[in-house]
Amino acid sequence: MLMIHAWHQAQGNKRHKVLIPDTAHGTNPATAALCGYEVVPIASDGVLSAEAVAAAMDNDVAALMVTNPNTLGLFESNIREICELVHSRGGLVYCDGANLNALLGICRPGDLGIDVMHFNLHKTFATPHGGGGPGAGPVGVTAELEPFLPLPIIVKEGETYRLDSDRPESVGRLRAFASQFGILIRAHAYVLSMGAQGLKKATELAVLNANYVRARLEGSYHLPYKERSLHEVIFSDIDLPNNCHTLDVAKRLLDYGFHPPTIYFPLVVQGALMIEPTETESQLALDEFCDALLAIAEEAKTHPELLHQAPVNARTRRLDETLAARKPKLRWVRREA
Ligand SMILES: Cc1ncc(COP(=O)(O)O)c(C=O)c1O
Repeated sequence: MLMIHAWHQAQGNKRHKVLIPDTAHGTNPATAALCGYEVVPIASDGVLSAEAVAAAMDNDVAALMVTNPNTLGLFESNIREICELVHSRGGLVYCDGANLNALLGICRPGDLGIDVMHFNLHKTFATPHGGGGPGAGPVGVTAELEPFLPLPIIVKEGETYRLDSDRPESVGRLRAFASQFGILIRAHAYVLSMGAQGLKKATELAVLNANYVRARLEGSYHLPYKERSLHEVIFSDIDLPNNCHTLDVAKRLLDYGFHPPTIYFPLVVQGALMIEPTETESQLALDEFCDALLAIAEEAKTHPELLHQAPVNARTRRLDETLAARKPKLRWVRREA
């Protein structure tokens, strides 16, 4: 976002707004706001329409921030038209790369019209999503934005490399240039060992796995968006009976021995249950997971108290999640008998 800001300044433009669809992760508006932009939410109803972007696009919009596929697991099918529209009115397009697992080896974001994109290495490149960090997010840009890259950049000269800080248009030095170095090395090793075909295969398996889960659970859990989903599938709790909600399903999954997936995100889906199995799960593991969720859907009808009381097999029962987030206990303390 700083590069986008610097690019506009170099053109003599002062633009103040960033458009962000309502499906976006909270980190998107947070990033735009931290860089001093006013965030303009765009209603999307699944995928973003060019009309909705056109209606909000004016001479004060610096950029559109999108995630593709979006957080509903849906490919933003109007993306090229939308990028052309934003460009034609002097804006740039930023892509949140959190869902690259669905596109890697299949399509190139630059071809879609994206100007800047970060890569969540800890998601797409070798660390299971949800692993809790650490993470690293290198950023790719078009040639037009290249002069604005942060300092220093690495320049290859013959067989050696050097750091170049003599770049007057750069946004300057960021706080942690080397970032989480171990994650960068791990991602690099992963890319080299997988090769282009291997990376493509991982994408295909991630999409296949999510659609396998979708096929097994559709009918037992409400699917709010019927369009073809990619690497993740999102259910809602609106059909669950007996006052059972997504939180109850997630807690009951603990009793079945599964770490629950992301819940209550994206915000546009009521009681969202977001399942992103990634490429690494075997069919056996997916079946066990789906069997548990199917059993829980049945329990919601016949023994809802099992969901309301869950977890009963875990070491601790339900926590005060607000307190846990606000005042986390980060050190293990032995309980007195
Ligand atoms: C679309 C999207 N953007 C951003 C994030 C935040 O990513 P990170 O955990 O790397 O900060 C997530 C997290 O899952 C996400 O789904």
